[in-house]
Amino acid sequence: MGPNDFFAPVADELQRVESSLETNINTDLGVLHAASTHLIKAGGKRLRPAFALLAARVFIDDLDEIIPLAIALELTHMATLVHDDVIDNSQIRRGTDTVKKLWGNRLSIYAGNLVFANSLSLVAGYQRQDMVNILADTSMKICEGEIIQMLSAYNTEVGMKNYLRRIERKTALLISVSCQLGALLTPAGIAEISALQKYGYYLGMAFQVTDDILDFVATEEILGKPTGSDIRQGIITLPTIYALRFSPHRQDLQRWLSSAQCCIEQTDHIVDLVIDAGGIDYAYYAAQYYTEKAKRQLRYLPKTPITENLGMMADFISNRDY
Ligand code: IPE
Ligand code: IPE
Ligand code: MG
Ligand code: MG
Repeated sequence: MGPNDFFAPVADELQRVESSLETNINTDLGVLHAASTHLIKAGGKRLRPAFALLAARVFIDDLDEIIPLAIALELTHMATLVHDDVIDNSQIRRGTDTVKKLWGNRLSIYAGNLVFANSLSLVAGYQRQDMVNILADTSMKICEGEIIQMLSAYNTEVGMKNYLRRIERKTALLISVSCQLGALLTPAGIAEISALQKYGYYLGMAFQVTDDILDFVATEEILGKPTGSDIRQGIITLPTIYALRFSPHRQDLQRWLSSAQCCIEQTDHIVDLVIDAGGIDYAYYAAQYYTEKAKRQLRYLPKTPITENLGMMADFISNRDY
């Protein structure tokens, strides 16, 4: 089973989201339009729209009103990816060249801003102050997560607290908010909305831990983005934090990971040491822990086939290989 199976109950709605993503990029300026729509055309899992739609489907059948929100969530996500590829100096995303590679840093900054502004404008259309506040707050947190990560590069002293703080901000909160906002547009009660928000949060944590695992063990063909890139950039993620404590070669690891040059020259060697130290197994264990926490929140929801589906999605996310 892959994401498409789990998304099946909202497949028609996702198709509508897909065909509207591009038309929501509003600019007549050719090059800005090309750069801003490039990443849309490249595809992607469309996880955040799917979560908003599924969360709403627990409570209502007609999802017309959720579509603009679903588009907005994917656009916000995409704006962060365009900017992320600038600060990560990434050349490949979603199996194709990044906006950064094709148009450079300067255009990428404004292409990202344009996409983000289009997203906010869609959410503003609901005339719901609470929804705008939630999305604005999450977007500020994403900035914090990305900058905490940038400032922590090559710092082998960073521990679990720093790691969990940054992945919460850069990834988990947007997934959490996707579930929360989807449910907010339905007659769901406060306790149910809160359960979905927490489900999304824990699932988002599991999702990023898995993303960090895949950076060590996946292949670029399957992932659509280069692997080993965290180590190359000196980004210390959960498997590495574990290895820095428990590897018999932790002194070498510490020395190499503190140096930008060593991170590039010794990438493969560092990756092997982290894997040998059990860093990946430990991170899988952590992803599983968050998945179980996510699934436990589903108890507070009506027992529908969609709720069951959300449970299966949680399992898929912590075991995914792409
Ligand atoms: C990539 O997100 C950035 C992370 C939060 C790990 P996705 O893995 O959802 O990327 P796409 O949307 O499928 O390209
Ligand atoms: C994800 O961070 C970026 C955001 C969620 C903003 P990463 O840098 O780890 O993601 P990839 O690996 O480039 O997709
Ligand atoms: Mg990054
Ligand atoms: Mg990146």
